[in-house]
Amino acid sequence: MLGNFSYCNPTKLYFGEHALDALNTELAKYGSNVVLIYGGGSIKRNGIYDEVVRILAECGKDVAEIAGVMPNPTVDKLYEGVAIARAHHAALLLAVGGGSVCDYAKAVSVSVHCDEDPWEKYYLRFEEPECETLPVGCVLTMVGTGSEMNAGAVITNPHTHQKIGHVFADEKIMPRFSILNPRYTLTLPRYQMVAGIYDIFNHICEQYFSGTDDNVSDYLSEGLMRSVLHASRIANADMQNYEARSNLMWAATWALNTLVSRGKSTDWMVHMLGQSVGAYTDATHGMTLSAVSLPYYRFLLPYGRDKFKRFAVNVWDVDPAGKTDEQIALEGLEAMERWMRELGLVMRLSELGATEEMINGIADGTIVLPGGYKVLTRDEIISILKESM
Ligand code: NZQ
Ligand code: ZN
Repeated sequence: MLGNFSYCNPTKLYFGEHALDALNTELAKYGSNVVLIYGGGSIKRNGIYDEVVRILAECGKDVAEIAGVMPNPTVDKLYEGVAIARAHHAALLLAVGGGSVCDYAKAVSVSVHCDEDPWEKYYLRFEEPECETLPVGCVLTMVGTGSEMNAGAVITNPHTHQKIGHVFADEKIMPRFSILNPRYTLTLPRYQMVAGIYDIFNHICEQYFSGTDDNVSDYLSEGLMRSVLHASRIANADMQNYEARSNLMWAATWALNTLVSRGKSTDWMVHMLGQSVGAYTDATHGMTLSAVSLPYYRFLLPYGRDKFKRFAVNVWDVDPAGKTDEQIALEGLEAMERWMRELGLVMRLSELGATEEMINGIADGTIVLPGGYKVLTRDEIISILKESM
């Protein structure tokens, strides 16, 4: 471990089947004007909306709503929500949904009192808020992003084909509280459940495949990955298995609540590629990652062979006896591919609606980060994208 860092995560979590009981206590800490933010209607179908609205009424809150936050929330939807929150003089933004709703609430939070255009300020210029920001609370219904305990907010501009994430520097942008009831995730369609599982796994990979130092994070990451593999197989065979789903929910939070990135470098290029694919296709986030992962990792392997070998042995139980480092490392990726196929993940960009004509644009929209084992050139990005088709 080489890093010098500070660590603070102020999100208060309430976990388990009775977690929503804590909402009263949390609501009491904020003013009366609440903006309730949710997605396309899943919470109305599974009853979570009614429960939350009842508690808001019991607490005497004056509630305005931002409904219809879409997966991969757009900048136009952001402008609409900012206007609603401003008009309602919001004291709290309550996000009830998945990563999209939670990210969106954070984007509204930093924009309500901002005089500048939030897309330009936060997403093109990557500036930090100088204005007052609104507190966000979260009731999570979809597992994967870690948005419930981090300061990330990903927004898509469909007009310019850009999907950009800003991880805000100030931890006050993290949700003040998050309610994590694994039972809420049992109504997720299988496609969303497995996309979320891969999102968790890839968040860990992104922080693992970087650096050569000995650090606590890599050991934590290996444990988290093993837990995700174990629980994912149980959940995939029995989608109503509460124990597996609760472990996935908890692993997702730890995978991206800033802990495992402390003190080490990180990669994040699978996400940069996947986000640019998302900007062109509006595909489900986790599936954009699964489609580009193996071509990327196979390309990267020679540059980070020791780590890929360690991954094979410590995460996939590959027996190293009598094999070269290269063989061991490759067997790890083969085991990962078998698991991905077993889950039913999307393995090709063409299945997500990406076409050959989009590849140049997707490459242009891919933000190149320097933390991985090889800084990608444009030609390498193009070749990974073609391989992913
Ligand atoms: O909109 P509704 O009707 O609620 O349906 C949603 C949506 O269609 C549905 N859903 C959610 N909970 C459900 C449910 N359906 C049935 N039962 C439930 N309990 O699932 C669909 C997907 O929801 P969404 O919130 O879009 O999924 P996810 O949690 O994967 O969030 C994706 C967004 O998060 C960003 C992604 O880029 C994407 O924009 N990310 C945020 C990150 C962060 N904050 O750190 C990191 C991630 O890497 C990611 O980039
Ligand atoms: Zn992700």
